[in-house]
Amino acid sequence: MELDPERLAQPERYKLLIGSIVPRPIAFVSTISPDFKFTNLAPFSFFNAVGSNPMTVLFCPANKPDGSEKDTLRNCKPVSEGGTGEFVVNVASFNYIRKVAAASEVLEYGESEFELTGLGKAPSVRVRPPRVAESPIAFECKTLQVVRTNPGAPAAGNIVIGQVVHVFVRDDLINERFHIDQTILDAVGRMGGIGYTRTRDRMQLPMGKEALL
Ligand SMILES: Cc1cc2nc3c(=O)[nH]c(=O)nc-3n(C[C@H](O)[C@H](O)[C@H](O)COP(=O)(O)O)c2cc1C
Repeated sequence: MELDPERLAQPERYKLLIGSIVPRPIAFVSTISPDFKFTNLAPFSFFNAVGSNPMTVLFCPANKPDGSEKDTLRNCKPVSEGGTGEFVVNVASFNYIRKVAAASEVLEYGESEFELTGLGKAPSVRVRPPRVAESPIAFECKTLQVVRTNPGAPAAGNIVIGQVVHVFVRDDLINERFHIDQTILDAVGRMGGIGYTRTRDRMQLPMGKEALL
């Protein structure tokens, strides 16, 4: 089948993306409103690392069906755009994955997914949004830039690029060489539809032509 994205409906394009680009890591993003009154929590699987010098990550909150910004973007966009310029990426692991999925519930602005899920808030060190107490790893970020692919359009993607300014790693997960214990981390990825995958089936391969041997 050959497909021209411009001849497809937006939901069809979305299904092609989320069914094909798998598994996707999940950023469980905590933010705080610009008046510092309300905390917010939501999962984003359009997420990845950007680079390590400086340490940077990105995630992509799409616009809502009416073209407006999701609460997370409203909160974490740069101060020059009316946000706080801060967010925390909490790593989604199996032990609280139901609460991660539950936090995607659409709530009124100001209602907190922390209350909805019962997840705990732990104070961050360098940014004002709290990290999720149950998360084994949390990246505290300052927003460098938001790239909007189609401002104001329903379902259009926005790329939030953040510089990691502090990292929390639970002591039992990391060794003196900064290797993360994948079994303890027990990360979960998102697949198509409402599918998820665990990270228990792993293998090792050398890089380059040695991988062919
Ligand atoms: C596992 C998972 C991954 C998600 N990934 C994304 C994503 O990458 N981008 C997006 O816009 N919405 C994503 N969603 C939906 C948002 O979490 C949802 O729209 C949420 O209500 C946004 O919250 P907010 O308005 O408080 O920012 C995802 C939902 C789940 C359950």
